[in-house]
Amino acid sequence: MDRFKIHGGKKLNGTVQISGAKNAALPAMAAALLTSDPVTLQNIPRVRDIITMAKLLAHMRCVVGSPDLPPSEFTIRAENVSMQEAPYELVKTMRASVLTLGPLVARFGHARVSLPGGCAIGARPVDLHIQALEALGAETKVEHGYVEARAKRLRGATFRFPKITVTGTENILTAAVLAEGETILENSAMEPEVTDLAELLIKMGAKIEGVGTSTLRVQGVDKLHGATHAIIPDRIETGTFLVAGAITGGELLLTNCEPGHLKTVIEKLRSCGVEIKCEGNGKVRVRAGKKLVAADVTTEEYPGFATDMQAQFMALATQAEGVSKVRETIFENRFMHASEMARMGANISIDANLAVVTGPTPLSGAPVTASDLRASAGLVLAALVADNTTTIDRVYHIDRGYERIEEKLTQVGAHIERVTDSR
Ligand code: EPZ
Repeated sequence: MDRFKIHGGKKLNGTVQISGAKNAALPAMAAALLTSDPVTLQNIPRVRDIITMAKLLAHMRCVVGSPDLPPSEFTIRAENVSMQEAPYELVKTMRASVLTLGPLVARFGHARVSLPGGCAIGARPVDLHIQALEALGAETKVEHGYVEARAKRLRGATFRFPKITVTGTENILTAAVLAEGETILENSAMEPEVTDLAELLIKMGAKIEGVGTSTLRVQGVDKLHGATHAIIPDRIETGTFLVAGAITGGELLLTNCEPGHLKTVIEKLRSCGVEIKCEGNGKVRVRAGKKLVAADVTTEEYPGFATDMQAQFMALATQAEGVSKVRETIFENRFMHASEMARMGANISIDANLAVVTGPTPLSGAPVTASDLRASAGLVLAALVADNTTTIDRVYHIDRGYERIEEKLTQVGAHIERVTDSR
């Protein structure tokens, strides 16, 4: 199991190229199941979850080809899919495998996908994915840890999500495009990753209106065709590097990003005294202002402050003057990083879904353990300003969603090394 050793206290300066968004690439890959034609995806991040999704598609007998290794471009051919099953072994390592459910039932009339189960950040059920598929006429059965769905052909329907769900919206959107008649999805997620998926589907011949809003109106078609699509930049990686620049008191130029996708995060960081300049052409410059000051944050669905930026914001709050209240409203257990940051000297108290961070506190290097992807990112950021050495255990979490983070950080002056245990 790999660990990071980070020697903190270095100001970061230089240019960082932002990768494609993992959470947009995963549903796009699943959407390739909707057609027998080739679907080419560009700007794919080279991260572990993408490899897992490629393995899953290969297990279903899709041909996943790539001109380079590890790939940033894939062509997926779902011509001879003979296995409509997502097995437990793959789903347990990546919940997003559930995204194959919608496309498989829509195109093949049958899917069997392992239930993802809970994870470190919360229970994360998929009941709403199942309810919505049933609304489209699928017969579903949850048995032996698997959800099985069948439908000769899905039928369009109106479904209102009782709670906003990102992958739930994506799953049902990729089912509705091949359903008979009109589907109206109300209270849909509006995350840029959903919009990116809708744009890919439209290129494949789907008829979708209301893209970018909470009501998606889909006219089902009989068949979809191949397409080529470049995945949007990763807004969470962008936000993470904005905090990296700010927290270390350096200056970073981020390229290949889309600042329009993280307006709320940018506004919040500015209110903490961080200087952020959007320079056009996908470039954003971040510089720590004179002084970091506290701010309150409540995580919300898009366009609100992303839960995937909460841990990184908390790291920043430890270095800001005053009291920052951080309220997590999306997941019930997403403060695991707080106790690790406290072990590094942060002053954080937790009451249910509210974390109160009082800063600034000097952080001191310590051995810490990453509990999930974004928690790991928060710990890396805290380690960048801690004195001495921080060792972060279980960095496989960060490898799931950040492309070569240690290389990108090293290029701009961080002292970070990956230690591979032979244990
Ligand atoms: C997506 O997860 C992202 N994953 C998450 O990113 C992100 O944190 C989350 O959206 C919220 O923005 C991918 O896109 C692959 P939800 P998802 O369904 O879709 C409840 C990362 O670090 N819910 O929007 O699984 C659920 O428990 C990851 O990259 C139900 O109750 O999240 C949660 O409380 C972590 N029933 C809330 O809704 C359901 O059927 C929102 O979850 C579905 C969800």
